[in-house]
Amino acid sequence: MAKVADKYFKADEWKVIEEGFNPDYGEVSESIFSLGNEYLGARGYFDEGYSGSKLIGSYFNGIYEMTKPEYGHYKGIADFTEFMVNSVDWLYTRIEIDGEQLDLATSEFEDFVREIDMKTGILTRSFVWKTKSGKRLAVKFERFVSMTQVKRTTQKITIKPIGFSGEIYITSGLDFSQIHRNERKNLWDCKPGTIEKGEDIFMGIDGTTINTKLKVYSSCKVNAEYESLEEVNEEKIVAVKLKANLEDGKDYVLTKVTNNVTLRDDGDLAVYDKEVEAVKSETETACTLYDKLEKENIDWWKKVWDSSDITIANDPENQQGIRFCIFQMYQTYHGAVEGTNIGAKGLTGEAYNGNAFWDTETYCLPFFIFNNQEAARNLLYFRYKTLDEARKRAEVLDCKGAFYPIATISGRECCNLWQHASLQLQASTAVAYGVWFYEKMFDDKDFLKKYGLEMLIEISRMLATRGDFNREGKYGYYCVMGPDEFQMMVHNNSYTNYMAKFTLEYTLDKINEIKSEDPDAYKKVAEKVAFDESEMDTWKNIKDNMILLYDDKTKLFEQHDGFFKLPHLDVDSIPISDFPLYDNWSYDRIYRNDMIKQPDVLMFMLLFISKFSQEQLKANYEYYEPCCIHESSLSPSVHSILASQLKKDDEAYDFFGFATRLDLDNYNRNTNQGIHTTSIAAAWMNIVYGFGGLRSDGEKLSVAPSIPKNWGGYSFNISYKGVVIEIKVDKENVYIKTKGDGVVELNVYGKNVEINSEGYKCEVE
Ligand code: BGC
Repeated sequence: MAKVADKYFKADEWKVIEEGFNPDYGEVSESIFSLGNEYLGARGYFDEGYSGSKLIGSYFNGIYEMTKPEYGHYKGIADFTEFMVNSVDWLYTRIEIDGEQLDLATSEFEDFVREIDMKTGILTRSFVWKTKSGKRLAVKFERFVSMTQVKRTTQKITIKPIGFSGEIYITSGLDFSQIHRNERKNLWDCKPGTIEKGEDIFMGIDGTTINTKLKVYSSCKVNAEYESLEEVNEEKIVAVKLKANLEDGKDYVLTKVTNNVTLRDDGDLAVYDKEVEAVKSETETACTLYDKLEKENIDWWKKVWDSSDITIANDPENQQGIRFCIFQMYQTYHGAVEGTNIGAKGLTGEAYNGNAFWDTETYCLPFFIFNNQEAARNLLYFRYKTLDEARKRAEVLDCKGAFYPIATISGRECCNLWQHASLQLQASTAVAYGVWFYEKMFDDKDFLKKYGLEMLIEISRMLATRGDFNREGKYGYYCVMGPDEFQMMVHNNSYTNYMAKFTLEYTLDKINEIKSEDPDAYKKVAEKVAFDESEMDTWKNIKDNMILLYDDKTKLFEQHDGFFKLPHLDVDSIPISDFPLYDNWSYDRIYRNDMIKQPDVLMFMLLFISKFSQEQLKANYEYYEPCCIHESSLSPSVHSILASQLKKDDEAYDFFGFATRLDLDNYNRNTNQGIHTTSIAAAWMNIVYGFGGLRSDGEKLSVAPSIPKNWGGYSFNISYKGVVIEIKVDKENVYIKTKGDGVVELNVYGKNVEINSEGYKCEVE
């Protein structure tokens, strides 16, 4: 793999530490030090303002804007884009002494340390400011976003003068005036803010997005001592400028707690207005709230680590890497807000427009299935909530049923690259896969009857109208693009056909099951979607005749009709300077050979790994891996898991290192645009499914751990049937036990075993 680590942050098992500030790395650090709680997120930008390169990214899940690019309209090609919009800067601060404003681009400073403590979720940054007038001040910023009361965020600023006493001016408030980077303009209409002075200073400001008319009401309470106060009168900003006296050697502290109410497109204006009114009459003070929220956060994260931690002995960098992945997953999503999804960059940056992809069900869902059932359910519920949009999309694409968008925030397709949006069926089959996986693990029939079955029927309808029978009566998909985005308008992409066959089979199964077990529930869904049972005959015929390009002699699946005849490109011959290829090769050149962007055949083989023999896996891995350039960050983990299965231990370990430290070591040189949230979910799978050998697609949940040779040991937890199971592996043995009273059955290296809190031990095989 032609990707090289860029080491910048200090390795530590529980923290990410930046010692000394490198402005060239400023935006990478902003991404790495992002905080989020699913409802909102903020990049690690500097509170006090910074005139150097920065992205003041403060986002709310589900608050988006849209643009309409100017070009001709072709049926089926999305003519608008939705993007997550940068919102209120709730950290807005300015600090001034002797006429000099603190700005790390121009001010002199030393001893800069920024760190995020993943045990507590608290971000701190400290340095000594050496003013132009010769003064020295120890400055410390702390912030966290509440995981228990997700509308709230906090900030604490501590300033200690070293060797002097004197005046300081601190401005604190809420700022909606930021420019959106891509659109190059501000996208908020704001009412003038309000300020009330009491024990705390209360400020509030109401913003509405210009095109989508979504709303954020942001308010804060600020507690600090001051001599005098001046209201700041700037457009889209509500703030106060405090004049205070600093005493030599004594801490001056400003505490701020915000409360942010949003109106998403599925929200109710009356409820929003009521909530805004309630915020205005809250009585708890900033300091009380800060302490309370801090304590709640520490407890919240402790529970997370108790049930979801992964430990690695003897590999501090990967230990830090995997904890960072788990930390980011929980920050991005944990089931706190019904009806939202996970953007490819989470809430940490603006690349991919904050859109959600098939990544959610394919890469993120396993993490939630084994850590947090509610979150898994909520993610699937998002697809139900947006089913009508998927129906409309199918209609536009001349299909029946539901065609899920390849990129979306609201549920509408907003990817205007037609070769992705019109040709990739994988978002729809991923939803079916997600329903199947969720049902298999939780047996949640209620979800299936209320939401799952309806989605399955509509997706199956689409699959039965998007494909065609050929002259031999075999069914397939023509003019499609599979997960490998370097091949477009291909016929019978194996991933697409395999997943479609699976979806139709599963849908037929579930219709029959619910019809016999709960005829009323079946009738309700059937009536709702005007289901005609003759559709089942068509689906059966299609799935029985689905084309699968498999050769029993070679054990190979051909990626699509004609793939094996494409000119071969030796991917190792591509100079490193040509990457990323999208920037350096003409678009069509990428398509004219057998180079693969990311796993395609190997992807469905991983999703249903128990269905394939070791021989089949080996043949396909050895054929396709050398063609793959891993241009998508989703790619290495998949290869690592399969390499583990094939006992290619060194290869498995190399791919793992890349996946786990993808952002910490800025492997793709684009972490400045945000964290690769969905691919760090794959990094979790990499340990649990790769080295841990977890298999969840067979009859029983099974594990078959192996251990990389340089590790002293490792452990991971999974929640299964309401019980947390801890699996520890050392050089010789595997130890498995339940945490608490539950008892579960697990298949360990092919043997069924009952696991309880006393534990089970066997040798590593
Ligand atoms: C990948 C897609 C993925 C998207 C968002 C692309 O580079 O090819 O599979 O859905 O990124 O992560």
